[in-house]
Amino acid sequence: MAEVKKSNCSLRMGVSRLLVSFLLISPCHCQVPLVMWTSEGIALPSLDPPAVGQMMSVGQVKPYLTSALSTTPHTVVLFLQDKLSMEDFTVYGGVFGNKEDGAFPSLQAYLKMASSLLVLPSLARGVAAEVPALLQEVLGSPPLYTDPSSLTQQSLPTDPALLIIGLPYGSGTLTKDVLQQNDEIIDKVLQTVKAANMPYTAIYTGLQPSRVIEYSSAMSAQLVGRSLLQSPTPSPVKPPVVFNGTQGACILLWADTLNVSFQRRPNQWDSEDLADITFIPSVSLSGSSCSNNSSVLVLNYNNILNFTSLTLTFMMTKRFFPVSARHWALVEQVRLEYDGQTATFNGSRDIYSPAEYSYHCQMVSSSIDPQLVAFNNTDNAKFWRIHFTDFQVGAYCTQ
Ligand SMILES: *[C@@H]1O[C@H](CO)[C@@H](O)[C@H](O)[C@H]1NC(C)=O
Ligand SMILES: *[C@@H]1O[C@H](CO)[C@@H](O)[C@H](O)[C@H]1NC(C)=O
Ligand SMILES: *[C@@H]1O[C@H](CO)[C@@H](O)[C@H](O)[C@H]1NC(C)=O
Ligand SMILES: *[C@@H]1O[C@H](CO)[C@@H](O)[C@H](O)[C@H]1NC(C)=O
Ligand SMILES: *[C@@H]1O[C@H](CO)[C@@H](O)[C@H](O)[C@H]1NC(C)=O
Ligand SMILES: *[C@@H]1O[C@H](CO)[C@@H](O)[C@H](O)[C@H]1NC(C)=O
Ligand SMILES: *[C@@H]1O[C@H](CO)[C@@H](O)[C@H](O)[C@H]1NC(C)=O
Repeated sequence: MAEVKKSNCSLRMGVSRLLVSFLLISPCHCQVPLVMWTSEGIALPSLDPPAVGQMMSVGQVKPYLTSALSTTPHTVVLFLQDKLSMEDFTVYGGVFGNKEDGAFPSLQAYLKMASSLLVLPSLARGVAAEVPALLQEVLGSPPLYTDPSSLTQQSLPTDPALLIIGLPYGSGTLTKDVLQQNDEIIDKVLQTVKAANMPYTAIYTGLQPSRVIEYSSAMSAQLVGRSLLQSPTPSPVKPPVVFNGTQGACILLWADTLNVSFQRRPNQWDSEDLADITFIPSVSLSGSSCSNNSSVLVLNYNNILNFTSLTLTFMMTKRFFPVSARHWALVEQVRLEYDGQTATFNGSRDIYSPAEYSYHCQMVSSSIDPQLVAFNNTDNAKFWRIHFTDFQVGAYCTQ
């Protein structure tokens, strides 16, 4: 059940090119991530990541903070944002290789500089609000709530010290700008601490999950860490396809190539990479839908491979697997409709993920290491080959 990294597919989370989670759960769980890192040259002790899917209570978070601080500097800078969800990283974090455009350039640089980082992906609701008290207990030092604009080298407390910087969160169209400003504040504060030659431990978390996209997380800290640090492979910048449901964005799709091949005659396969016309400009999504249990993404094309109309449809469902007590999102079928004919591929059981993740695959293919298989022997799918690379699909949860 936990074979989410089977074949060449994996779940990917983080600041760099990753897509948003499958989250069809309603009501959504509301969890907040916590990211901890240290100034250059100081390593965090290696800690086992929290169990996948674990929503951490105060009692579970405390040992992590205690262990980490057993070796890291006791000058702790806590950036406490009003709201934060993992989606803020994924949505505004320079996704899809578009790093310059991300809202977290400084954070990304600090994480890259730090030799290690700790990511607790899902604090239960209310736990982050307890973090100052937990840190105070571990450090034996009262918190100092500081306004970043008045922070100077002189006003820095000495070790042990708990410096708390409150950061706002902006909803809607403001989100990215506010996150960007916060990123600058993080940089300014850490530069000040650095200029005072104080090694530090920094923590970034939020008091509440951000309103826009509620996120229920289950990734391992290692996965997050890796992708946070991962430099995106160079590729042309293209925006994802986003389908808006009644309550806002609900499905996203991104791929480097979306290659479909049709066998017009024996031994003649005509191919076309749909990616270019899918992402720029965005293709028509007419026929797509989202509901509690399923989502359907329909990409509509014209004049492809000599077909007047061609649609590429992804049928996804959310299922509850009692064994893991979790919801898993499955890409059930991929369907091609072309001038009145239909070809249907079943998604193999490889194409699933915990509902909270987006699904990422270096390759989704019907021919090489196939994860897509023809519906049956007679289905038109036998005339088609599908070959997608760097494929990511996800469904949002919005409330
Ligand atoms: C989807 O909604 C977002 C805002 O939530 C908007 O910016 C975007 O243009 C919408 N897309 C479509 C295709 O309507
Ligand atoms: C698409 O895939 C076929 C094999 O199925 C390959 O021959 C062709 O070169 C690919 N085209 C593109 C544009 O990737
Ligand atoms: C989805 O689930 C929520 C609560 O679980 C319910 O209120 C809502 O009516 C459902 N929507 C649909 C379309 O079934
Ligand atoms: C859809 O989800 C609702 C709960 O949200 C559940 O009661 C219902 O049985 C599900 N339907 C299917 C077809 O799985
Ligand atoms: C598409 O149709 C045109 C004319 O109908 C034909 O000349 C061309 O060879 C066809 N292309 C393919 C790939 O079959
Ligand atoms: C494809 O899925 C359908 C149910 O959705 C099932 O009846 C059929 O047997 C599957 N085909 C294969 C080849 O597994
Ligand atoms: C294959 O599936 C189609 C429906 O997609 C059905 O009409 C046909 O009878 C099936 N063929 C076999 C051999 O099961």
